[in-house]
Formats: sequence, structure tokens, C-alpha cells
Amino acid sequence: MILRSKSLARVVSVLLVIVFVYGVAAVLVGTGGFNQEAAAQTGGAVPGETLGNNSDSDFWRAVRKGTRGDVSTPNKLAGVMVQSEGESWRAMRNGPLSTWGAWAIFGTLALLAVFYTLRGRINVEAGSSGRTIQRFTMVERIAHWTLANSFILLALTGLNMLYGRYVLKPFLGPELFSTLTMLGKYIHNYVAFAFMLALVAVLVIWIKENIPDKADLKWLAKGGGMFTRGAHPPANKFNAGQKILFWLVLLGGLSVSLSGISLIFPFTFEMFSPTFTFLNVFGFGLETNLTPMQEMQYSQLWHAIIGLGLIALIIAHIYLGTLGMEGAYDAMGTGQVDRNWAKEHHPIWFEEVEKSAATGDD
Ligand code: HEM
Repeated sequence: MILRSKSLARVVSVLLVIVFVYGVAAVLVGTGGFNQEAAAQTGGAVPGETLGNNSDSDFWRAVRKGTRGDVSTPNKLAGVMVQSEGESWRAMRNGPLSTWGAWAIFGTLALLAVFYTLRGRINVEAGSSGRTIQRFTMVERIAHWTLANSFILLALTGLNMLYGRYVLKPFLGPELFSTLTMLGKYIHNYVAFAFMLALVAVLVIWIKENIPDKADLKWLAKGGGMFTRGAHPPANKFNAGQKILFWLVLLGGLSVSLSGISLIFPFTFEMFSPTFTFLNVFGFGLETNLTPMQEMQYSQLWHAIIGLGLIALIIAHIYLGTLGMEGAYDAMGTGQVDRNWAKEHHPIWFEEVEKSAATGDD
């Protein structure tokens, strides 16, 4: 009996020693007591065998180049350990894209300042007639202001996402800035749908009046009378300049909406692979085998490029609709414009409205 308990005690003490040694070894490894790096490098025993590599450098080079491995998790994106294109995307977004975007906006403001200094406000030359004519119906104005207000909210919150950290964060501090930016992100995502709706409404309401015609060529040849006082080139309800704005807003709006949807619902559909495949028909030679991550990166860059371009364009539009041209704001404000304004800026349209009023047509 005594003998038995002695050998049991021996077994237990051997086990205790094993546990102790194992514990010390584990602590040493965990705290870097062993040179882990060197241990992992020994004999080129790299997990890279699965990629068919024989050396550490081959293995890490493959990882760095974004080689995709297999993973058992549902998120197959996790198979890419280092996603190198992300580095180029980040450099592009925080570098040339941000710089050129700022140039586009400040350049537009500078050009408008020069234009205003040289040309001044475009006045109604015959002066006010004291009588008005209806330019836009209530429905047209609701569509316009929904588009305008949603765009302004999208522009401000979008600009904050790109430039806020440089412009606002130093003044607001990180906490308030991050709270505001988070709120701005929600506004951006939800208001986008009001913008898309208004875009469709504006398309339906105004497409007919924005189809190019012969008068547009004359209007363009005379520079729209923008640079010469007293020149009143022919124009229908919308002149050539406004038609250009209309189509740019529509096409830009469509493009910014599609890329925006792909950002709100990431990895759900591909935009750029099919677009690049189509462009390659014209010899562009673009890479068409894009990873889902690259699709998102292109969506973000494109969304920002078009968004910034539209912002620059709309700054010029807002200038002409307010400060730049006497009597223009009334058209969208009350829906009524002075008859002399209509005669000078949209003579063909004015004649038509007069004629139909005389004949009792609508
Ligand atoms: C405070 C902001 C804005 C003001 C004061 C403004 C003012 C105006 C005015 C006065 C007109 C009528 C011009 C006329 O009678 O011939 C107009 C038309 C129009 N606006 Fe705006 N607008 C603003 C923002 C926007 C925005 C953000 C967009 C698009 C994203 C936009 C798109 C249009 C379009 C497509 C037209 C019809 C074509 C044209 O007249 O150029 N507007 N706007």
C-alpha cells in the first residue's frame, strides 16, 4: 500500500515538473523570451509551402503582391493578406484627387471673381417693365429646389469627408469633428435618395426643352452675350449654356448616383470591370480583371471626381442665378420674371408665350 502511494507520488511529481517546464517555456515564448523571428525563419520553414514557395522572400513577395489564398470563412476577401492597391488608392485620394479638387473649386471662384470685376452684374438693359410673365410652375420649382437643396447638403457633407480633417478638425477638436462627420455621413447617405428622385423629376419635366436646336449654335457663337453688353443672342426657354448645364447635371448626377449606390452597398455589384471592358473596345487597354476591393476603390475615386466637378459647375450656376444676373433669381423664387428680362434673355420663348397668350393656348 505504502509502495503504491510512493510510486503515485513520483508520477505526480514528474507530471508537475512537466507542467512547470511547459509553463515557463510558454511564458518565455509569449513575452518574446525566445527569438521568435529567428525561430520562424529556421530552415526556410515558411507556411508559404501552400503557395508553392520555397523561401521566405518568395512567400512575402507573393503576399505583398496581393496573392489570394483560400480561406474557409464566408468572407473570401480575407484570403488576401496584403492588398497593395489600397496603398495606391489612398495615395491618389489624399494626394492628386484632393489637390485637384481644391483647385477646381477655388479656380471656379477665382474665375467668377475676375468675370464679375470685368463684366459686372448682367442687368436688364431696358430696365424693369413693371409687368411679369410666368417662367416656372410650382411643380418645376419644387423639383428644382429639391435637387438644389439635396445637392448642397451632399456637397457640404461630401467636402467634409475629403477635407474636413484639414479644415475643421483643427478648430473643432477630434471629438466634435468626429461626431459631426458621423452625422454628416448619415445625412449624405439618406439625402442621396432625395437627390436621385429630384434628378428623375427634373429629367422628366425639362428634357423636352433641353434638346439642342439651331438657335443654340448662334447663342454659342456669340458667347451667349455674356461678354458683350447689348448682345441678346436667340434663346428658347433654355439657352445653350443652360442646356449644357442640364445635361452635365443629369449625366454627372447619374454617374455620381451609381457610384454612390455601390459605396452604400459595398461588394454588391461591379461597375468598373464592365465599363473598362466596354472602353477597351476603343483601344483603352484597361485592366478588366478587378478584385472586389479594386471595384470599391474605383467607385470612391470616381464618385469624388464627379462630385467635385459638379460642385465647381454648380458654384458657377449659383453665381449666375443670384449675384451675376439681375432678375434671374425671381424665376426660381416666385416663378415670375420681368417681361423685359424674358425678352432680353429668352426672346424666342418670350415670343411663343406671348403668341399662345394671345391665341388663348396654354
Ligand atoms: C442656391 C442654389 C441655386 C440657385 C440660387 C439656383 C438658381 C436657379 C435659377 C434662378 C434658375 C432659372 C434660370 C432661368 O430662369 O433661366 C435655375 C435653373 C436650374 N438649376 Fe438652379 N439654382 C441653385 C442650385 C442648383 C443646383 C444645386 C442644381 C443641380 C444640382 C441646379 C440645377 C438647375 C438646372 C438643371 C436648371 C435649369 C437649367 C438652367 O436654368 O440652367 N440648381 N437655378
